[in-house]
Amino acid sequence: MERSQFTDISSFTVQGRLLRLYGKQKKKPKALRVETKQGKYYIHLSKKLRKQGCSGLKKGEWVWITGSLEPKGGRCILKATELRVIAPEIAPSHSTNGAPENSSSPSTQSGKVLICLKSSCVKRGAKGVEKAVETVICDRNLTEDITIKPTGCMGHCKKGPNVVVMPGKQRYQKVKPSDAPRLISQA
Ligand code: FES
Repeated sequence: MERSQFTDISSFTVQGRLLRLYGKQKKKPKALRVETKQGKYYIHLSKKLRKQGCSGLKKGEWVWITGSLEPKGGRCILKATELRVIAPEIAPSHSTNGAPENSSSPSTQSGKVLICLKSSCVKRGAKGVEKAVETVICDRNLTEDITIKPTGCMGHCKKGPNVVVMPGKQRYQKVKPSDAPRLISQA
């Protein structure tokens, strides 16, 4: 699976309650966390939004945010390009959809996919598995809930690529990129 698939950026839209603003300058936050009916999301603010400043935003307010999914450091982040405070009467509790568009309902449970990236597993395709898992996490907008952790040798080199999915500690051997959706469903 080629990394170029990550340039196929999707959009998202959420409506939720503002939980927290992040950044050194209080008046110009760099990111925020919102809570929707489907879960909590950490969302980066675009340069334009950061310039505008969000000093008027208050914790607990309902916000409508739209933006794009962007690759960063081997994973996908949510980047807001537009943000509006919305009236409580049109807030998610009165809406049919508070989840990001183009995604299945995300789980709020944390999970980890441990992938052996030592030479024997890499020779057998571990990097391709890693990228496929990244893509599925990104496509399903689970970047806040599931992380990928490269590991050292798991001791089953000839049966690589080797993967362990947390929190259930399920072990998988001879994993193929096409197995990525199944791995993610266990995380
Ligand atoms: S190199 Fe992956 S299990 Fe040994």
